[in-house]
Amino acid sequence: MRKISLHNYTVIFAAAAEQLQNLLSELDYSSVFVLVDENTLMHCLTLVEEALPEHTKFIQIESGETHKNLQTCELIWQSLLEQGADRQSILINLGGGVIGDMGGFCAATFMRGIRFVQVPTTLLAMVDASVGSKLGVDFRGAKNMVGLFQNPEAVIIDPLFLETLPQPELRSGFAEVVKHALIKDVVLWKKLLQFSSIQEVENWEDIIFRSVQIKQEVVEQDPKENGLRKILNFGHTIGHALESHFLHTSDPLLHGEAVAWGMYAEAALSHQHKNLPAPVLKEIQAYIYLHFGLSARQQFAMHELISNSIPELISWMQKDKKNVQQKISVSLLERIGYCTPDHFFSADSLEATLGDLLT
Ligand SMILES: NC(=O)c1ccc[n+]([C@@H]2O[C@H](COP(=O)([O-])OP(=O)(O)OC[C@H]3O[C@@H](n4cnc5c(N)ncnc54)[C@H](O)[C@@H]3O)[C@@H](O)[C@H]2O)c1
Ligand SMILES: [Zn+2]
Repeated sequence: MRKISLHNYTVIFAAAAEQLQNLLSELDYSSVFVLVDENTLMHCLTLVEEALPEHTKFIQIESGETHKNLQTCELIWQSLLEQGADRQSILINLGGGVIGDMGGFCAATFMRGIRFVQVPTTLLAMVDASVGSKLGVDFRGAKNMVGLFQNPEAVIIDPLFLETLPQPELRSGFAEVVKHALIKDVVLWKKLLQFSSIQEVENWEDIIFRSVQIKQEVVEQDPKENGLRKILNFGHTIGHALESHFLHTSDPLLHGEAVAWGMYAEAALSHQHKNLPAPVLKEIQAYIYLHFGLSARQQFAMHELISNSIPELISWMQKDKKNVQQKISVSLLERIGYCTPDHFFSADSLEATLGDLLT
C-alpha cells in the first residue's frame, strides 16, 4: 500500500473497502454518513459497502455541476440534522469533484465542522479535486465562489472506481494529469507520450500516484494560493473561457477537455513569451490534438469562435479571480517540467493573438 502524507492528512492508495475499514476502526465516532449521487450510488457504493458500519446513513443528491450550490447544501445539512448527526459524526464523500467539494464544504461548516473522508471516484477528483483542501460551491453562476480550506481525515484512492467511469469523464481527468507532467515532471511527460490513446493505460495507480505527488509538492509550498500554486492553473485561463463559451453551444466541453485546449493555446503563448522551444511546442500540441480531438460540432463551434467571438472569450478571461488591475494572469512554461505563474497580459494584446494561439 502506498501513501502520500500531506501536512495533516494522508492520501492512501489501496482497495477502498479495506482502507475505509482500517480508517473507521481508528476513529472514534458516533455515526457514519455517506454522500452519493445517483451514479456513485449505482456504481461505486458496492466497492465500499462491506466496510460501512451497520447503521450507516445515506444522503443522495443529484449529479452534476448544476447542483453544486447552496440549495443542495441545505438539503445535505437538513438530511444530516434529520438523521441525527452530531459533532462526532463522520461524512464520507463518495463521488467526483462535485461531491468532494460540496460534501467537504457541508461537513466543514455543519455544527462548525465535522470530520469527513474523501473517496474520489473520478480521475479528475483523484488527481486534482480531492487533494489540496479546497472546498466549496458555485454561487450566482460563479464557480467555487463560496467555500473554505479544510483538511479531510484522509483521502482514499482506488483506481478500480475508474472501470465504470464514462470515457469522456476519464479523458477530462487525464487532461489534469497531462498538466501536472507539463508543469513539473518531464519523466511523467515521457511516460504519457508512450500512450497513443487513454485505453492503453494499464497501470492507473502509478500515474495517479505521481500526479498526486506533484499536486502535493506545489500545494505544500503555497497552501493558500499566494504565488506558486497558481502554476496548477496552467491551461486554465484560456481553458475556463473556452469552457464558459462552449457551455452555450450544442456540444459543450467538459472541464478537462477545455483545459486541454487552454494548454494548447497557453503553450503557444509560452513559445512567444518564454522561449518554449518550437519542437517542444509542436510535441505538446500534437499530443493534445491526438488525445482531445474535438467532435465535428465542436470543431465547427471552435472555427466560429476564432472567426467571430474572440472578444467574448476575452471578456470571460477578464472575470478570472487571478487577474490584477484588469491585467489577465497566465501561467507559462519555459520548458517541460518548469512553469512560472503571474505573467500579465492586457486584454488588447491577447485579443490580437488569441485566434492564432488556438489554431
Ligand atoms: N477542490 C479542488 O481543488 C478542485 C480541483 C479541480 C476540480 N474541482 C471541482 O471538481 C468538479 C468536477 O469534478 P468531476 O470531474 O469529478 O465531476 P463530477 O463530480 O460531476 O463527476 C462526473 C460525473 O461522473 C459520475 N461518476 C463519478 N464517479 C463515477 C464512477 N466511478 N462511475 C460512473 N460514474 C461516475 C458523476 O455522477 C458525474 O455524473 C468541479 O466542480 C470542479 O470545480 C475542484
Ligand atoms: Zn482543472
